[in-house]
Amino acid sequence: MLRCRKVMISVIALFTLVALKIYIEVMYEIPKLAERPSTANELNRNPLSILEPLQDQDDLFMAALHDMAQQLRRLVDTSDSYWNNAEQQLLESENMRAWPCRTANEPFKEITDYPESLQIFLQNGGCREYSLIIDQPRKCQHNKTFLLLAIKSSPQNFAQRQAVRNTWGTERCYGERSVKLVFLLGVASGPDLSALLWYEDGQYHDLIQWDFIDTFFNLTLKDQLFLGWAKKHCPGARYILKGDDDVFVRTPEIVKELSLLDRQKTRALYMGHVVTSAKPYRDPQSKYYIPHSFYAGSYPPYAGGGGYVFSGALTPWLYQVSHFVAPFPIDDVYTGMCFMALGLKPTSHPGFQTFEVPIKKSDLCCPKKQLLLVHKKTPQEILQMWTELKGHVLHC
Ligand SMILES: *[C@@H]1O[C@H](CO)[C@@H](O)[C@H](O)[C@H]1NC(C)=O
Ligand SMILES: *[C@@H]1O[C@H](CO)[C@@H](O)[C@H](O)[C@H]1NC(C)=O
Repeated sequence: MLRCRKVMISVIALFTLVALKIYIEVMYEIPKLAERPSTANELNRNPLSILEPLQDQDDLFMAALHDMAQQLRRLVDTSDSYWNNAEQQLLESENMRAWPCRTANEPFKEITDYPESLQIFLQNGGCREYSLIIDQPRKCQHNKTFLLLAIKSSPQNFAQRQAVRNTWGTERCYGERSVKLVFLLGVASGPDLSALLWYEDGQYHDLIQWDFIDTFFNLTLKDQLFLGWAKKHCPGARYILKGDDDVFVRTPEIVKELSLLDRQKTRALYMGHVVTSAKPYRDPQSKYYIPHSFYAGSYPPYAGGGGYVFSGALTPWLYQVSHFVAPFPIDDVYTGMCFMALGLKPTSHPGFQTFEVPIKKSDLCCPKKQLLLVHKKTPQEILQMWTELKGHVLHC
């Protein structure tokens, strides 16, 4: 009788334990499933695993890209606004042009209430072929490039470029890892600076210049042409840091962080200061003004254009997929759209501060803040921060 009770108790205890275990497992699964948005499986799945095997089969791979670009459709508001409408048509058709590249004497039905820059963009935004004036075809030869610094600059920004070269942008190796530098330029709209630029390039061999007018609304074009250049001349670069010439970057720290990441996982990396659900500026006075009749809805998530890092393996695919993304005048938003068309969302890193933030000396070497990139610095500030940082490294 007593033994029977003992057995009963053991059996009950065992059942209770098993039930508890099941209960815990079930409860554990529920919140995990609930917090996932339904698109999570498709977004951030590595597009390279789909595209790379199709590399040599043009038709198949264009079809796969076209399918992939449909992921953008969910993020673009259906609307009659100019861009939304163009993008919708682009994703529905096999025709890869959102609007034609119009020559100046071709008639163009102007949307007269748009600001002049946007009208010019509508005239030229579809043109993507411009020739190189200064090139660096051998930039990535010989040594395998670990990090390519691709810095958007304007022809007249001589001082900014010199500050970058002399500080965080110096070409060198960190251990085995080589860092290379190029500045991306158009042509100045004012005085002819070509002799000065040729001289500068003769000294430093780091300018890439294309034959288009370097304006704010032509930055998307600059991005586009750079992707084409990188695909051709620097296909082996492991990572690319795309940034402005007024950022301060802790290059040694970035190289260190990147080399600690899992190589397979970062083949589809797109990382920076992430801007989510940003709404277009509707104030006609703003540099970023986008009228509702041009773009409706909020922007897809993107990494702030002051500086972000992405995997070099993505360049050819970004370049190709951009044919399915209608031209958009704000370059970092456009880049975000192209990544989205590959199913990739930006990864946020607190070390990237692309909005103006006051930086204290102590912030730079404070391990908790782990600042990697800060925006809106003058050449003097860049030089000063670099000197201070070097001093601090010894004392930290
Ligand atoms: C490139 O490699 C050569 C020899 O292999 C070496 O002497 C040189 O310092 C390297 N340069 C850079 C920038 O990596
Ligand atoms: C972009 O560059 C082209 C070629 O130089 C020029 O015709 C056009 O006006 C520029 N676009 C804008 C928006 O400034």
